[in-house]
Amino acid sequence: MIIAIDGPAASGKGTLARRVADAMGYAYLDTGLLYRATGAKVLALGLDPSNDDAAITAAEKLVSGDLDGEELRSEEVGSAASKVAAIPKVRAVLLDFQRDLARTPPAGKRGAVLDGRDIGTVVCPEAPIKFYLTASVEERANRRFKQLQEKNPAAIYERVLKELEERDARDSARDVAPLKMASDAIHIDTDRLNADAVFNAVMAHIRTHMGEND
Ligand code: CDP
Ligand code: CDP
Repeated sequence: MIIAIDGPAASGKGTLARRVADAMGYAYLDTGLLYRATGAKVLALGLDPSNDDAAITAAEKLVSGDLDGEELRSEEVGSAASKVAAIPKVRAVLLDFQRDLARTPPAGKRGAVLDGRDIGTVVCPEAPIKFYLTASVEERANRRFKQLQEKNPAAIYERVLKELEERDARDSARDVAPLKMASDAIHIDTDRLNADAVFNAVMAHIRTHMGEND
C-alpha cells in the first residue's frame, strides 16, 4: 500500500505524512530531503546548484547519512534543492531510491507514505490513495516563518515569503515532473484547517478506501 502526499512548500505535507505513517504502521519517506541533501552537498563545495555536473555527482554520491541534520531545513538549502531538482538527470538518479522504498517497505511495514512534489504523478502514479495539499502562499510563509523563528529569532517573514514564491514558481515551471496535482488525487485546501483537522480528514478518506477494498 502506497499513500502519496504532494503539494507546494510548507503546505503541511511532512507533518501529515509522518502522522499518517505512524497511525498506519507504514514507512515514511520525506522525498524533499533527497533534493535538499543534494543541494546542500553542492553548496558545501562552493558550487552553483544549477550546475548540472556538480548536482548530478552530488546526487549519485548521496548516502543515507546525508539525510540527517537540521541545516537541511534552511530556506537557503530549500532554494538549492529546487535548483538541483530542475535537472532531469538528478531526478532520474533519485527516482529508483524512492520507488524501491515505496514498493519494498522495510521489514515489518505493510506500506509506505511518501511526500514530495511528484509522488502521485511520477514516482508512484499507481498509488491507490493520493492527497494534494494547498494553502495560500501567505499562510504557508507564515507556517514556515514560525518554524524557522523557533531556531533563529532573526528570521524575517518577507524573506521567507519571497523564497517560497520563487521556489513554487521554479517547481511549477520546470519541464520534468513539475509540481502538479495528479488527476486522481484528493485536494485538501488547508488554509483554514489546523494540522489535526487535516489529519482527521485524511484518515477518514483512508479508512473509506480500505473499507471499500477489503
Ligand atoms: O512538509 P511541508 O513543507 O509541506 O510542511 P510542514 O513542514 O509539514 O508544515 C509546516 C508547518 O505548518 C508545521 O509547523 C505544521 O505544524 C504547520 N501546519 C500544518 O502542518 N498543517 C496545517 N494545516 C497547519 C499548520
Ligand atoms: O518542506 P518543503 O515543502 O519546503 O520542501 P521539500 O519537500 O523539502 O522540497 C525541497 C525542494 O525539493 C522542493 O522545492 C522541490 O524543488 C524539490 N522536490 C522535488 O522536486 N520533488 C520531490 N518529490 C520533493 C522535493
